Amino acid sequence: MIDLFNNFYKGKRVLVTGHTGFKGSWLSIWLHELGAEVVGVGLDPYSEKDNFVLSGIGKKIKVDIRADIRGGEKMKQIFAEYQPEIVFHLAAQPLVRLSYDIPVETYEVNVMGTIHVMEAIRSTPSVKVGVMITTDKCYDNCEQLKGYVETDPFGGYDPYSSSKGAAEVAIQSWRRSFFNPSDYGKKHHVSLASVRAGNVIGGGDWAKDRIIPDCIRALETTGIIEIRSPKAVRPWEHVLEPLSGYMLLAQKMWEKPTEFCEGWNFGPEQESVLTVWEVASSIIDNFGFGELKDVSNPNALHEAKLLMLNINKAKTRLGWYPRLNAKQTAKLTSDWYKRYKTENVYDLCVEEINNFVG
Ligand SMILES: NC(=O)c1ccc[n+]([C@@H]2O[C@H](COP(=O)([O-])OP(=O)(O)OC[C@H]3O[C@@H](n4cnc5c(N)ncnc54)[C@H](O)[C@@H]3O)[C@@H](O)[C@H]2O)c1
Repeated sequence: MIDLFNNFYKGKRVLVTGHTGFKGSWLSIWLHELGAEVVGVGLDPYSEKDNFVLSGIGKKIKVDIRADIRGGEKMKQIFAEYQPEIVFHLAAQPLVRLSYDIPVETYEVNVMGTIHVMEAIRSTPSVKVGVMITTDKCYDNCEQLKGYVETDPFGGYDPYSSSKGAAEVAIQSWRRSFFNPSDYGKKHHVSLASVRAGNVIGGGDWAKDRIIPDCIRALETTGIIEIRSPKAVRPWEHVLEPLSGYMLLAQKMWEKPTEFCEGWNFGPEQESVLTVWEVASSIIDNFGFGELKDVSNPNALHEAKLLMLNINKAKTRLGWYPRLNAKQTAKLTSDWYKRYKTENVYDLCVEEINNFVG
């Protein structure tokens, strides 16, 4: 595999929260392939069809721990036992519509869970880098046409978005109070950043009310894909795009701990900012069959209509850039779902990572 990070991850102890989830399973596979010792902390996977289960990554990494990030003492215990050097915190309740049903739990996991992970970082001197994953939805969305920049105010209409806005506020506070770059080397040795991706798509995601899983479920049954918000515009990106950004950022933070401990957007280029209808159509094009049905309802729960990220900062200061255009993103995503039933899924993921980095 081409190593975009010059052997940086080889032998590093990396703790990934949410490793059983969609993004976390891909990150764990990529880190494992680069020679990192991955410690995964998460809940049980949601289904037997998840990328985590089918790829068997849980059996390949150093340790696969099932624990709840809301347990502060347990987190500290795990960190003390495995002494991670780099932490990627992805564990969350990540669904907007579900957050209307379980707002309290969404806040408990996304805000208090994040705080417990930061406290575990604080109590574990081996940790040098913490990359905290929030979302593009952490910004106060005023449905503006231009993309949000990292200094825009946090906010959020629904409980999920606002919980991630609140997590951002907490991360900023912990950085100022406990991991302040001006105290680096004197009071602490931690570089802490937060990262915000767009709408992430790719193989192995089966979450409810997300467009790609909805498309695949429909294509595997009726062939008719029901679209709730056909005109909603989102920054779509393949899962490997933000992951490449998180990994590059962690490397830079390791090398220059006080220079990169900030918020970062890792979204797609403007041409990948498409409507839900367009994205679903591109999946149909790749499968060669299927049909879209507009089921929009004016009384539906509020979901943002327009959301874009400005990624100039990551481009200029990190030298990161999105590698895939919208067509390639749809193809890579569709390929996984076309092949997962008949092929070795771990090898399939590695092949996709190889295609991506090559
Ligand atoms: N998928 C996207 O489009 C997207 C976009 C932007 C940001 N994000 C963020 O990326 C991260 C990963 O998202 P995903 O799409 O992979 O979600 P996912 O639902 O597939 O995975 C979530 C992971 O968090 C774990 N988790 C949930 N509650 C937990 C708890 N209480 N204790 C321990 N672990 C817990 C789950 O077990 C799972 O491993 C989340 O923080 C999410 O908010 C996702």
